Parts: sequence; C-alpha cells; structure tokens
Amino acid sequence: MSLFAIGDLHLHYQSPLKAPNQIYDRIWKNHEEKFRKNCEKLVGPGDTLVLVGDHSWGRTLAECEKDLAYIESLPGRKILLRGNHDMFWDAKKTNRLNEQFSGRLSFLQNNFFSYEDYALVGTKGYTFEGPFYLNRSGFVSGWDEKEAAHAEKLVGREAERLRVSLEAARTAGFRKMVLFLHYPPTNILQTDSVFTQMAEEYGVSQVVYAHCHGESRFHDSIQGDHNGITYSLVSGDFLKWMPMKVMD
Ligand SMILES: [Fe+2]
Repeated sequence: MSLFAIGDLHLHYQSPLKAPNQIYDRIWKNHEEKFRKNCEKLVGPGDTLVLVGDHSWGRTLAECEKDLAYIESLPGRKILLRGNHDMFWDAKKTNRLNEQFSGRLSFLQNNFFSYEDYALVGTKGYTFEGPFYLNRSGFVSGWDEKEAAHAEKLVGREAERLRVSLEAARTAGFRKMVLFLHYPPTNILQTDSVFTQMAEEYGVSQVVYAHCHGESRFHDSIQGDHNGITYSLVSGDFLKWMPMKVMD
C-alpha cells in the first residue's frame, strides 16, 4: 500500500476554462487523460491518493458533477482537500459531503483520515502571494495595511482549522502525521509561518502542498528538508501529472 499526492487538477468537464495558462500551455493539453494514464500505471486499488485542492472550475456541486465523477473513477482511495477555487465546497458543510460521497470520495477538513499508522491532516492554508517589489533590501510586500490585516485574518482562520484537524488526530492516538495544505506553507518573503510552526509542534513528518503552478511559481516556498520535516510541492503541472509517492 502506498500514499500518493497531487494537486491543482483544475478540471473543466462542465465549466469554461478561466486560466490563460491552462488554455495555452502545452503541459495542460489533455492533462486529464495524461493524469488518468499515470494513475492507472502507478496507483493500485489498495493505495491512497490525496488530491491537494483546486479540483474543478465548477462553482457549485452540480457544476462539478462530471469532474468529481472523473476523480471517483481513478484507482485507489481518494481523499480531497479544499483549494481556493473549490467553490462547491462549503468548509462548514464538509460532513454533508462526506455523507453524500460515502465510500466513493473523502473530504479532508476539520477532520483527519488514517493511512497505516499515520494520520492525514490538513486544511487549505493561506499565504500572502504578492505583489512583491524588489528594492535595495530585497523583496518587500506591496500590500497596504488593510490588505495585510485581511491576509492575517485568513491565515488565523486556517491555522484554527488546521489545529482542529491535528487535535482530532492526536486525540485519536496518532503520533505520526502527514500534513496537507493547498497553499504553500510560506511565501517568498518568509522562512517560517504559523503552518510550519504547527507542523513542528505536532511532530509532522511531511508537509505536502500545491497551488504554485506555472514555472515562475514553482520555487515560491520550501522544498526538501526544513527543521527535520520534508516539504513537497505537488501541483499537477510541476509533477507533469505524475502523482508523487509520499510514502510506501
Ligand atoms: Fe490554488
């Protein structure tokens, strides 16, 4: 049994495409088919595949029906995390989604799932993405005070949601954890964040995130070892639609 992850499928079986790169970049051409083939080669029926957010361009559950059916048809157990484009998913109604898709898809939000002796925990996360400006002292944020305060509020809310997930896992007796975020844990100005601190506090062994797609974004955050935790970017175009093996 293996654990795989990938993010940012941005499926559009029923919805118009909204991102220019998805229309013009070669990496996105027939990406659904490339991804399906890769999954069929790599992911077995006993394996777990975590989809790290931004599943669909659909704005409602009805508009996502075909996209979710595509995900459902992939091999293995599928666990979904919320991305910033997943409008169909009301964070407060995750239980309802888990009931509706019971036995077919699992939704990770304010809860956790187990993989062997690991707890799979997570939340969407949030990080300030710019604009950043380069001056004599390096990159600086281009946001005004009001925007910065708003960003801070969003980070706080996501940190609370992550703590609910981590605490649920800990209360259930799990000591080993893999943490999934949709947003990168840090932005280009940060070396740490509330999310990296929580990962360290709870003894998480890996942090897996997506959201950074397009080559210019691939190095926005931490990759590799940082304070004893392994950080991995798994956005689909970065992985060329090949799910990353998180562990065996
Ligand atoms: Fe995203």
